Amino acid sequence: MSFTLPELPYSHDALAPYMSRETLEYHHDKHHLAYVNNGNNLLKGTEWEGQSLEEIVKGSFGKNAGLFNNAGQHFNHLHFWNWMKPNGGGAIPGELEKKIIEDLGSVEKMKEDFIQAGVTQFGSGWNWLAVKDGKIVVMKTANGESPLVHGATPILGCDVWEHSYYIDYRNRRPDYLKAFVENLVNWDYVAELYSKAI
Ligand SMILES: [Fe+2]
Repeated sequence: MSFTLPELPYSHDALAPYMSRETLEYHHDKHHLAYVNNGNNLLKGTEWEGQSLEEIVKGSFGKNAGLFNNAGQHFNHLHFWNWMKPNGGGAIPGELEKKIIEDLGSVEKMKEDFIQAGVTQFGSGWNWLAVKDGKIVVMKTANGESPLVHGATPILGCDVWEHSYYIDYRNRRPDYLKAFVENLVNWDYVAELYSKAI
């Protein structure tokens, strides 16, 4: 298989004012496209050619840094566009909400811990909700890594690379994370990934 850039599941201005058209034009149309193109070039002739994206990400981790960085970021961004929607945030589907309360204490605590993971990720990376050993956990990873290469299944991730927030929030990463949680998250997609993960 080769990597392809998906269309955004909404228009470029659909997430404003929390994420602007300009941010999505750079982030999706340029940054994600570069991961796709670089990933395709680096995949050619490797042992992972023809495998699924998840197999490529897991297989190249620790073995082929260039391929891993681009394939990992392609995987992360494919989901990232779907982890957001216009008028996002709001109610969490019942079964997922119950599991969040069971494993992380409360919805408020989950949001606090998720935001804190993003704030404290030093440099570029991602913060996550993931399913690990049957439990929902909060994680953070550097650069193009994800829970996939740390024995867990990602169900929600927020991109804390500066290209995701600097146009709209400048250095205010905490404000970006708060807006992501309160106004952008597509909890239905998170619930869908959660039910596949368990
Ligand atoms: Fe990104």
